[in-house]
Amino acid sequence: MLKKLATDTIDWIDQRIPMTRVWNMHLAQYPTPKNFNFWYFFGSLAILVLVNQILTGIWLTMNYVPSSEGAFASVEYIMRDVEYGWLLRYLHSTGASAFFVVVYLHMFRGMIYGSYQKPRELLWLFGMFILLVLMAEAFMGYLLPWGQMSFWGAQVIISIFGAIPIIGDDLTLWIRGDYVISGATLNRFFALHVIALPLVLVILVFLHIIALHEVGSNNPDGVEIKRKKGSVKEEDKTKFKIHEYYSDKKDIVDAIPFHPYYTVKDIVGVVGFLFFFCAIVFFAPAMNGFFLEGPNFEAANPLKTPEHIFPVWYFTPFYAILRAIPDKLLGVIAMGGAIFALALLPWIDRGKVKSIRYRCGFHKLNIAQFVVTFIILGWIGATPQTDFKTILSQITTVTYFMFFVFLFVYSKNEVTKPLPERLTK
Ligand code: HEM
Repeated sequence: MLKKLATDTIDWIDQRIPMTRVWNMHLAQYPTPKNFNFWYFFGSLAILVLVNQILTGIWLTMNYVPSSEGAFASVEYIMRDVEYGWLLRYLHSTGASAFFVVVYLHMFRGMIYGSYQKPRELLWLFGMFILLVLMAEAFMGYLLPWGQMSFWGAQVIISIFGAIPIIGDDLTLWIRGDYVISGATLNRFFALHVIALPLVLVILVFLHIIALHEVGSNNPDGVEIKRKKGSVKEEDKTKFKIHEYYSDKKDIVDAIPFHPYYTVKDIVGVVGFLFFFCAIVFFAPAMNGFFLEGPNFEAANPLKTPEHIFPVWYFTPFYAILRAIPDKLLGVIAMGGAIFALALLPWIDRGKVKSIRYRCGFHKLNIAQFVVTFIILGWIGATPQTDFKTILSQITTVTYFMFFVFLFVYSKNEVTKPLPERLTK
């Protein structure tokens, strides 16, 4: 009886909107390469964190007061008096850092397996737009508690725009909505943080997934699963169905439907992730000043500059590049260039082989040096400047950009290992 009611209801809906069709096409019966590994957890984890941020954000907004007089006190109120307000806030603040951990690892996966290469350039560009919007979202969110670091961090970052010739001063005035950071700035950042940017993020993630499903997922071997159309052996066929939308690719070799294979596998990733995430939320939400900085437990005071001003850790690699160059405008150009270079990866990398598994030794070294460079820059940007660190940041700024220059040069005529005919595992 209940089962009949459920199927009738689903049929009724399906005759009006293609619910089951879309569900099967984009989730249950989406053909997925069979060799996904640990690195492929981070896309679904990014969705999980996005949902966490939206839900906890909605509940925080119910008690948060977006004014320079009320903001700091309302956060204290949420922490002390609102039922489970502390949990909502720590889920949200830890979620912000978790978002960047997950997204940086997700991007790194794309780099090692060449997932940005043809035909996934647009998918990568959507990803880069997501990264930019995420940065703006995090930056604006950090002003909202109206603590010392909120205020002074925003002061430093907004003043960066002042370095742009001719329009710089007007631009900073336009962003702040005032001659100094004030309640007007807080109000507009609140509006952008709670509605405009999350909306843009959700739309971009939607486009990201549609683009992914049009071209299909890459995989750790970097070998397209559609390469050998029409040659699936009986033993390779699963009893689970791949959606007929992909029927021109019906005999996709080495593909399995997303459900149940990856729904189950992703649950493993979610449990592993939640273990670390909850450990931080419950035992170290400030993460030794990395997730919530010390000065931010003090209300914003425009008359008292904190001894050291640092952005939150996820901005520090780019901040270190900005500080490495004495000329402000050149520093801004280098910082913007560091992000822009990532967006250009599909065109900088001229290699014919995608995955690091089959690329030359120099490529492996180049990626390793990029990781070390990124970590050193992050550390320098998060700690007080010394003469040694200034020189080190200048060296690592150069090695950061050399990654792209080297890649452009050697990828053209790279000697690679032979690609396997089929996925290896
Ligand atoms: C809110 C942030 C993001 C979400 C929710 C998200 C979601 C996803 C999902 C669910 C997948 C498929 C599963 C997987 O391959 O892990 C995926 C794939 C992919 N994403 Fe993202 N993504 C985000 C940000 C980014 C960023 C910042 C980039 C790069 C600039 C990026 C580049 C890619 C690429 C290249 C793929 C295909 C990977 C492959 O097939 O090997 N994504 N994304």
